[in-house]
Amino acid sequence: MLVNATRMLRKAHEGHYAVGQFNINNLEWTKAILLTAEELKSPVILGVSEGAAKYMGGFKVVAAMVKALDECLGITVPVALHLDHGTYEGAKACVAAGFTSIMFDGSHYPFEENVAKTTELINLAHDHGLSIEAEVGSIGGTEDGVTGNGEIADPEECAKIAALGVDFLAAGIGNIHGIYPANWNGLHFDALEKIQKATGGIPLVLHGGTGIPDDQIKHAIKDGMSKINVNTDCQLVFAEATIKYCAEGKADPTAENKAKGYDPRKLLKPGFLAIQAKVKEKMELFGSVGKAADLL
Ligand code: 13P
Repeated sequence: MLVNATRMLRKAHEGHYAVGQFNINNLEWTKAILLTAEELKSPVILGVSEGAAKYMGGFKVVAAMVKALDECLGITVPVALHLDHGTYEGAKACVAAGFTSIMFDGSHYPFEENVAKTTELINLAHDHGLSIEAEVGSIGGTEDGVTGNGEIADPEECAKIAALGVDFLAAGIGNIHGIYPANWNGLHFDALEKIQKATGGIPLVLHGGTGIPDDQIKHAIKDGMSKINVNTDCQLVFAEATIKYCAEGKADPTAENKAKGYDPRKLLKPGFLAIQAKVKEKMELFGSVGKAADLL
């Protein structure tokens, strides 16, 4: 069931659990995540970066694929289709393409410009029934060619953006995209506390969910992080499973290989199953298993 993410994240915030945003890259990814959410009766957010959307053929292709899979697989749990780190133009295009949620990442603009653009996009999103996420303080690391410095968001700026009417807010607390360096200092819970207080209880978003120790994830959820974004983790397990399958000679195209393991449906299956296992592990950690019932 395709919905926006406002209600599911408010419920998560009240109930002290988090909904996972899992980024998608293709049909296998999408199917694996949707089927896992359905099996676990968990709400879920499918994240799509602009680069991934371009790879899949465009925002309209993504929206059509997700809507059709949701229907044809008989998915009953709430699913939001969300633009991840959208540009101003990308956010507008996703509203038109039929996404149910957008993120506008104006963190690299001067603050006043971030406010002006965010305000315009809040009105557009809400007029069309979409939820909207904004960002204050850039998230570190590199995702899709966009590099941030891992700032700690300023609580006052967070309060100003939250007051504009965004539905949930990405606030940097030392989290970064991709694999964490060995000398990473961990999440800054003092900053999280100040941000949550200043924003009056708005659901917060933790980007860079890959590689954060479980105890820090649980602490962050307890203190107001209600949406946790996971991308690299699924990429890593997919690559690992596919490499193992090939290294075992299962994709060998010789006549002796009667199993025809080079068939793409067989070749991509271990990676598909690995994504399902990773998503299950994360939904259990985030506490969203069984929570779809609260939203139906
Ligand atoms: P990771 O790739 O570090 O899991 O981060 C995902 C993310 O934050 C998407 O916005």
